[in-house]
Amino acid sequence: MKIGIDKLGFYAPHLYLDMTKLADSRNVDPDKFTIGIGQDKMAVPPMTQDAVTLAANAALEIVDETDKEAIDFVIFGTETGVDSSKSAAVYVHELLGLNPYARAIEVKQACYGATAGIQMAKGHIMMNPDSKVLVLGSDIARYGLNTSGEATQGAGAVALLISADPHIMALEDQSVYFTSDIMDFWRPVYSDKAFADGKLSNEQYIAFFSNVWEQYKAKTGMELNDFAAMCYHLPYTKMGYKALKTILDDGTDDVQERLLANYKQSTEYNRDVGNIYTGSLYLSLLSLLEQTDDLKAGDRIGMYSYGSGAVGEFFTGLLQPGYQEHLYVEQHHRLFSSRTEITVPEYETIFEETLPTDGSTVELDIDRDPADICLTGMADDKRQYVNKLK
Ligand code: COA
Repeated sequence: MKIGIDKLGFYAPHLYLDMTKLADSRNVDPDKFTIGIGQDKMAVPPMTQDAVTLAANAALEIVDETDKEAIDFVIFGTETGVDSSKSAAVYVHELLGLNPYARAIEVKQACYGATAGIQMAKGHIMMNPDSKVLVLGSDIARYGLNTSGEATQGAGAVALLISADPHIMALEDQSVYFTSDIMDFWRPVYSDKAFADGKLSNEQYIAFFSNVWEQYKAKTGMELNDFAAMCYHLPYTKMGYKALKTILDDGTDDVQERLLANYKQSTEYNRDVGNIYTGSLYLSLLSLLEQTDDLKAGDRIGMYSYGSGAVGEFFTGLLQPGYQEHLYVEQHHRLFSSRTEITVPEYETIFEETLPTDGSTVELDIDRDPADICLTGMADDKRQYVNKLK
């Protein structure tokens, strides 16, 4: 039985910051951000968007009435959860009006959470071929103003419908995963900003990639020439390129050229959104599928997932016949072209805004947020959400 990605949705908040303007205000050469890091724009979430609403908006795009009945498992990968107890998946389940006979859970392992969700979903569908699983990857990447990680912030979510006989990509069975306790990036429960040893995280990202890629080749007999494209977890778009470069020499000239061209396509969306942590790999896949017309049914895509701390996994998928007809290209172009640029001072003000932590009531102005699903405020220590379409 084929199991894989049937639909792939995406959402980013409507505000963004131009990286050259951030560079100017931080007295940094803009080329460092646009070339050295490889980011052009950073999505900035207003107060009315959190990990729950970003994910719900991404899912709203793909989930139709039939899916609402068939989905019996919602898996929410995030490291920006809004509650230490209640899963973000339960909020999304309600906001979308899904079948109540469903499981709803949250999965955490830095940027690896959504991949864990997808593999779990695959097992679930193997046991329950008629069901569909909604896997969400939603995060807000925050390092702090004037930090070296600031240029790699971002916000957004992906929503993947995993099913049997998928329309976009069938996941292959062979995969290699690896865990080792590394302090390259972490966020203690008392902090709303991540701590990172940037250089160590870069090194470990590549070390884990080399490890799982070599194991994968040994286990399957596959080689670089068997791949039409490689997608990477992209904390910033230069990072995946650094990993790809370490294996390119294994391919023929044609293969090298193809992989480099497809790598570029797989980074276009991420360049304009920034790091969305657990959704980044799938945003890169979406960028590849929606930007390139060189791919065809049967092409094998390699996927490298890395979640600091750390867990890495290399797995693969085969594109399905007519996959192009199941993408939401127009909607995504509209999403990007309708965003509003904000100034550095505006970004700094939004960055410092917080919700009350003393149980008091606050009502947020959702009229300024074009998203269908918004956070409307807080009351009695409870987040209040609205689906404007309901
Ligand atoms: N023009 C072009 N490139 C320039 C440049 C310029 N004027 N100035 C610097 N660069 C290049 C550097 O050569 C470097 O490239 P390289 O990595 O290929 O050597 C790149 O820009 C980044 O410069 P660097 O000095 O290393 O940046 P930094 O120390 O300020 O921080 C990170 C970079 C990624 C470590 C930092 O943003 C970070 O900590 N991010 C969060 C953690 C993260 O994303 N980890 C990734 C793995 S999960």
